[in-house]
Amino acid sequence: MLTAEPAPLPAPGLSRRTVVVGGAVTLGAGVAVAGCATGVPAGQSDTPATVAASGTTLGPTSDVPVGSAKIYSSAGVVVTQATAGKFAGFSTVCPHQGCAVAKVEGATIVCPCHGSQFGLDGSVQQGPAPKGLTPEPVAVKGTEITMA
Ligand code: FES
Repeated sequence: MLTAEPAPLPAPGLSRRTVVVGGAVTLGAGVAVAGCATGVPAGQSDTPATVAASGTTLGPTSDVPVGSAKIYSSAGVVVTQATAGKFAGFSTVCPHQGCAVAKVEGATIVCPCHGSQFGLDGSVQQGPAPKGLTPEPVAVKGTEITMA
């Protein structure tokens, strides 16, 4: 036979209703803080990506167009190829508030959170990011790009 334990009584001076309403207000405040604390739009991550370990294969060099870039989200790296055969790697973490850059438009890497744009050398082309993307070493072995 099951026995239910009585709910704990509220502190002296507080009614059960006060405790329940207070809990709801606290929960609501928590949700509000979670939704706007970083200014990160819904659906975007403000969790810094972990950059893949040295030796991790990213993909074939043919994935990265000349004069553009490719984002390897799971590796936390964006690889650019400004000119033929000149590859460079950068962290996908936007230096503004930590969103992951998520789009490449031609020679521009775009952060979806507040619109910062970066060039193929990682430099800021348009803020609000205060500085460029952090370089991450990559290497080309044959036709494969790896983390250096
Ligand atoms: Fe704000 Fe990238 S996090 S522009």
